[in-house]
Amino acid sequence: MLFDLHPKESRDELFGRDSELEFVRRQVLAGNWVIIGGQRGIGKTSLLKVALRELEGDGFRAVYVNLRGVNSLRDLLSLLVNEINRSRINLGLRVSLNFVVGSLGVSVRSGRRVMNSLLELLLSISDRTVIGLDEVQELSRVGGQFLKILGNVFASNPRVSFIFTGSYVGLMRTLINPGPDSPLYGRPPVEVRLRPLGDDEAREFLRRGFEEAGVAFNRYDEVISRIDGIIGWLTLFGNYHAIRGLGFEDALRMTVEEGGKIMLSELEHFLEDKVNKALYIAVLQALKVVSRWSEIKSAVSAILGVGVGDRELMNALNSLVGYNFVERRGRGEYGIADPILRQVDMVPLLRRYLRREANV
Ligand SMILES: Nc1ncnc2c1ncn2[C@@H]1O[C@H](COP(=O)(O)OP(=O)(O)O)[C@@H](O)[C@H]1O
Ligand SMILES: [Mg+2]
Repeated sequence: MLFDLHPKESRDELFGRDSELEFVRRQVLAGNWVIIGGQRGIGKTSLLKVALRELEGDGFRAVYVNLRGVNSLRDLLSLLVNEINRSRINLGLRVSLNFVVGSLGVSVRSGRRVMNSLLELLLSISDRTVIGLDEVQELSRVGGQFLKILGNVFASNPRVSFIFTGSYVGLMRTLINPGPDSPLYGRPPVEVRLRPLGDDEAREFLRRGFEEAGVAFNRYDEVISRIDGIIGWLTLFGNYHAIRGLGFEDALRMTVEEGGKIMLSELEHFLEDKVNKALYIAVLQALKVVSRWSEIKSAVSAILGVGVGDRELMNALNSLVGYNFVERRGRGEYGIADPILRQVDMVPLLRRYLRREANV
């Protein structure tokens, strides 16, 4: 079902990503690791899950791990242990140092160092295995150690491949473009960047989804002009209109409303470790009306009620670009990437952060 809201898991549910899927598959078969990037709702998780399923067909064992909310290697270790046990992946003899082997699989010996255990676990995998790590940027806080483990696995256990997804900042950038000091230097994963559907593809997606649901539909342009070719928003709209039976206007309004809530919670998650949260929101608020550097700067200063410095503004913009909230549009011009985020009222959030920051 195209309008099912879960990430897609099988090839026949996946719309318009044939070439990307084939590419990912071929890269893994050739021994390369892969990174799937792109903005929220563009279909990274779906492509990852379908690719894992296809690779199972090619004889791989496949493991999917969602790293959302996982920010320590200990959490990663326990998720991996669970998945490896669940999929009955064979581990070589080496695994006995840090693990106890039982009838239900392995468990970590108490008191062992997480780094050593993780490494031992990954090095001992003896089946051809592909591990999908979704939202890898969540591990940024332990990025250095994580990269060391990856470098070691790449060098020492060719039976294990990784597919990563995530936003383009910090850890992701180091994965794509490892510098000479990085354990992955000289062996960067191959990158697949997912793009929004073009207008014709978006129309075709909606047409097929409505056809599948047996619901008549022809107001394509109104939908696409509001939510672009972001496949996740098109799916949400189709679900409201065709599956839940809301009228056209209500379905579109709900898509923008609910999509707005999703984007706001993504934004708050992104801001968790930022000190000057209000600045970021002010930048987004400014980008609703202006796009050039100098205009952004004066708008942000006006919104915050204090002048903002060049470096501070540049850092905030770069970081928003890095996380795919904002995109560069030509020289010194910026815009909000997501069509729904563009329509979100950010004033309440801005007020809240301004109040909080005034209190500290
Ligand atoms: N190629 C696709 N075909 C059909 N539906 C898709 C496709 N890609 C994504 N979707 C739908 O869009 C929504 C977001 O997809 P998801 O894979 O979770 O995106 P991301 O991981 O990039 O945020 C989900 O409801 C999913 O079912
Ligand atoms: Mg996802």
